[in-house]
Order: sequence, then C-alpha cells, then structure tokens
Amino acid sequence: MSKELLLIPGPTPVKKEILEALSQDTVSHVDPRMVKSFKNSLEMTSKLFSCDGEVLIIAGSGTLAMEMALVNTVKPGEKILILSHGYFGDRFTQLADSFGIEYDVVSANWGEHVGYDEVKGALEASQYKAVTITHVDTSTGVQADLEKLVPIIKEKGSLVILDGVCATAGAKEDMSHEYPGNIDVVLTGSQKALGVPPGLAIIAFSKDALEARNDMEKIPAYYADIKRWLPIMHDPTKYYATPSVNMIWAYEKALEIIFEEGLSARYLRHENYGKAVRRSLEIYGMKAVAKEDIAAVTMSCIKYPEGVDDAKFRSMCYERGLVLAGGLGSFAGIAFRIGHMGNTEADQLVEAIRIIGEVLAELGHDNRVEEAIKEFKNNM
Ligand SMILES: Cc1ncc(COP(=O)(O)O)c(C=O)c1O
Repeated sequence: MSKELLLIPGPTPVKKEILEALSQDTVSHVDPRMVKSFKNSLEMTSKLFSCDGEVLIIAGSGTLAMEMALVNTVKPGEKILILSHGYFGDRFTQLADSFGIEYDVVSANWGEHVGYDEVKGALEASQYKAVTITHVDTSTGVQADLEKLVPIIKEKGSLVILDGVCATAGAKEDMSHEYPGNIDVVLTGSQKALGVPPGLAIIAFSKDALEARNDMEKIPAYYADIKRWLPIMHDPTKYYATPSVNMIWAYEKALEIIFEEGLSARYLRHENYGKAVRRSLEIYGMKAVAKEDIAAVTMSCIKYPEGVDDAKFRSMCYERGLVLAGGLGSFAGIAFRIGHMGNTEADQLVEAIRIIGEVLAELGHDNRVEEAIKEFKNNM
C-alpha cells in the first residue's frame, strides 16, 4: 500500500492487489473475460447483502446510488420519511425535492441518534412509502441501530432504504435478516469500507423494492432507471451504457479479499478498530462527538482539545504523510474526521496515532504518544 496514510472517511487506502487488478489492460466491455468478472462481482455482491432480489453495479458515485434507490421505489407526489443524523441524511431531502417526492424528516442533533419515540410518532402520524436510514453518517460518525429502527418501520409497511456508503463491508447489512421484515434497498459506493477507488455505485433491491419499481411505468430518470440496467446485470454481453471495465476488475478483487477475510471477522475488526482509535485518542484529550454506544465502526469525528487550530493541526499531519478530514457543518474547525475502515491496517492506525501525538506535542500539548499506542493495542 501507498506510504501516505489516507485516513479520511473515504476514499480509503487501496491494497496493491486491487490496484493491480485496476491496472490490467482495458478490454471490451463485452469481452468474455470482462463478462465473467462482471457476473462474479454481481454474485459476490448478492452474497455480501444476502439479497433475494437484484443487485446492480453502475459507473457513478454513492450519490447516484442514493438517487437510484429513491427514483426506482417512490413516485413523485408520494411521501417518505427521512431519518437524519447528519449531512448525508439531509442529502435525501435535496434528492426528494429534485424529484417532487414529499417528505418528513426526523433529525438528530449532530453527534446524536434520532429518537426512537420521535420515529415511532412520525410513523403513527403518517403513512410513508419508504423510510431512509443513513447507516453511518460520515459527517458525525454516528451509526444507526438497525436492530431498533428497521422493525418499527417494517411494522408500518414502509420500504426501508439504507444508505450504506460509509458502512458497507465494515458493518453488517444483511437484507435477509428478519427484523421482522427485511431491508429493501442497500445503496453504496466503492471508495470506503469496500476498499476500492471511487467510481462505482452499487445497489441492492429486495423483491418488494423491485415490485415498487414494477408498479411505476415511467420514472423521472434515464441512466438511473434500473429497468434499463437489469437486462445488463442478467447478461453483461448486452449493452446499455458502457460499464467501468477496470473498476469492475478492482471491485471483484476487493470482494475476493473481503470473503477471504470472512464477513464476521471483518465486522469484528472494524468494531475493534473504532473502539481502539477512539480510546487511544482520548489519552490526548480528544473525544469523539458521538457517545461510544452509537459511534461508528468505520470512522470517527473527534473534537480538538482547547486551543488546537484545525487547519494548522491537519496541515502538520499532512506534512508527515497523514491525511485527515476536517469537520463538516457545525463541527467545522472544532473537530476532525478519521477513517478506520476497509483494508486499512492496524499498523497504519498506530502510525496515525503516533503522528497525531507528535503534532499535538509540537503544538504545546503533553507528549503521551507511547501511552496512546499502548491503549490502542490493549483495545485490539
Ligand atoms: C453516508 C454517505 N452517503 C452518501 C455519500 C455520497 O457518496 P459520493 O460522495 O460517493 O457520491 C457519502 C459520501 O461521503 C456518504 O458518506
């Protein structure tokens, strides 16, 4: 892997094998080698989500996947409920506005979880075609509790649309799990816990979600219409729009790596990384904005101790090869975001903790690097 520690909340460090797959000679999108890889990638994607319906792999980013989830299940004029614990939850309001979809929002204060009573109240008061959940909101480092949210939504007969962009392959997203009733759509992007460069929108539809699409004749989309794409997913020798040949190779390799590690082992590793990173940074007086029981396994949003200048701190880290992201919205300038997901290795996280401690010491804070690293290792 590259020497630079790319620890923003996506894109994430990309393994050499995946970059090698990406850099193979480009072939025709209908070449038998490509067709085989495409089919294999689709099969592994179905397995990743235990999806009983259809999965699609399309050139585009996570936002395309959000759009596809919405326009293929909800008609203009129908109403959805948006559960938002941050910037990306709120993005669904903009998407709904763009397509004339009505919505209500249950929002959490940034760094907190949506209140279950409030969600229940909204579901009692109105009938929603679908409810959106952001699994991990990348702006706050809060992770939704699917075990609690999905059942209360499914009881009311709404479709569950899960934004997995910052969670897929780091936290469990099992569409076959009876919550009761299962998740209907998981949408995601390639560049986070999947460990692939940015460029693929990946989306899974349950049988119920496909029925919702079949109930609509026309939808306000062309490229994002799954009806146009499904024939290609069934038979990649067909053409609709050119698939991203090299990215599919990279994605196929990434999925092989994920299944070699094993899903349970991978999810546990992510849990351990999250805990260990947050506990070690606490030694420096840096606390996550999210309480530990709702903190994400894939990334953390960490508040600075008094007197640390965000731009200066992050540029000093950058000079030492550690790339961190700034806070968003009300956390801009007072917090930074660190990714600990995908194929990031424990040694890379230890190195990041060392650099952060050294930079803090240079900025006049106590030098507690060895103690913080010990804390990381104790929590792994
Ligand atoms: C939770 C979440 N949803 C959606 C998106 C949008 O994905 P993209 O930037 O790939 O379009 C992001 C991007 O960071 C995200 O973190």
